[in-house]
Amino acid sequence: MVMAKELKRPERADGLASILAIGTANPSNFIEQSSYADYYFRVTNSEHMTDLKQKFNRICEKSMIRKRHMFMTEEFLKKNPSICASMVPSLDARQEMLVVEVPKLGKEAAQKAIDEWGQPLSKITHLIFCTISGIDMPGADYQLARLLGLSASVKRIMLYQNGCFAGGTVLRLAKDMAENNKGARVLVVCAEIIGLTFRGPSEKHLDDLVCQALFADGAASMVIGADPVPEVEKPLFEVFSAGQTFIPETNGAITARLLQAGLLVNLHRDVPKFFSENIEKCLHDAFGPLGISDWNSIFWIAHPGGAGILDNVERKLALKPEKLRATRHVLSEYGNISSACVFFILDETRKSSIKNGLGTTGGGLEWGALFGFGPGLTVDTVVLRSVAI
Ligand code: CAA
Repeated sequence: MVMAKELKRPERADGLASILAIGTANPSNFIEQSSYADYYFRVTNSEHMTDLKQKFNRICEKSMIRKRHMFMTEEFLKKNPSICASMVPSLDARQEMLVVEVPKLGKEAAQKAIDEWGQPLSKITHLIFCTISGIDMPGADYQLARLLGLSASVKRIMLYQNGCFAGGTVLRLAKDMAENNKGARVLVVCAEIIGLTFRGPSEKHLDDLVCQALFADGAASMVIGADPVPEVEKPLFEVFSAGQTFIPETNGAITARLLQAGLLVNLHRDVPKFFSENIEKCLHDAFGPLGISDWNSIFWIAHPGGAGILDNVERKLALKPEKLRATRHVLSEYGNISSACVFFILDETRKSSIKNGLGTTGGGLEWGALFGFGPGLTVDTVVLRSVAI
């Protein structure tokens, strides 16, 4: 009989985890923010609520968003009046769409990441799927594995209902998997469709009106692995460290509860202030070991929860405007896509670095910070190292 201690432990990788490819996808249907108030009050049969519409228009104007992609078209919404009402039981109608469409959108992004990586599907050993859009068993991870044709033995993790900080969380998990299992290749997918949060306006939930103006659909995917095969795999960023913390005394500042009427998000007015006042400690904890304390000397990938969060962080840390350029661009072109957002920004950063002839994938800089912000209030901080172009 073989004794447990005689069995060899799985070998660990030699190096740090790297992001080997990034893919993104959005539904083709999109709506311009400048006409969204008209659209939203029309499809929700709320045109009589003129004061609320004016307020909503002001929020849209301040959002710094140009357009948002949405799977749910006007035609779809007309066929699903319970989703357009303010607070009526509608979970069944929402779930019916989400459990099918979220894995499909995730597949589109994953296929692009896999194409860029250029290796056979059989080399994917682990899968992490993350979404706040719907709940199902078996989960969206299982559906995606089948849609893509991944091995039945791919080691899956499903993260439902973590929130917008989870772009950092998935990187932390993928790093652990890649570094602790030699040869592991982790497919990460974050996919969101606003099917749980969309609802008509209500005087009772003014913070929900803010959510209606910000949230959007999209998916992002990455292949992550350590010890890239020379000449075959081309790393884009190294994942140096990944941490998570919650900010004391902010419990309740962002909450999201699943109800018969969908997911109801509460946003405290001071969310931008809470994040901006606590981010410097996260930066010191993450970059202290590297001897870095000039926040303008690193590249920035920050979850664009709302323009107010970015403005406050920029002011508090005296960041130069170019630091949040990629982040603001993604907020403007796509809105707040929860956990997927940071990977749209990472993609934009490496692509614009190449386009502008900068020396590294991090806009010419070596080190960068990726921040996830969400309920808790929780902050995920990931230190990234760019690679030479
Ligand atoms: N609740 C209710 N109303 C709010 C509000 C809130 N949290 N925040 C803003 N408003 C209202 C204001 O009262 C104001 O109404 P009036 O015009 O009637 O006075 C209107 O919105 C516009 O506000 P301001 O004029 O003060 O404009 P602003 O510069 O603050 O911009 C904003 C508005 C774009 C919404 C900005 O406040 C912002 O970005 N806030 C942060 C939004 C936020 O919390 N995002 C996190 C989303 S959650 C997430 O990403 C993670 C997740 O896991 C779900």
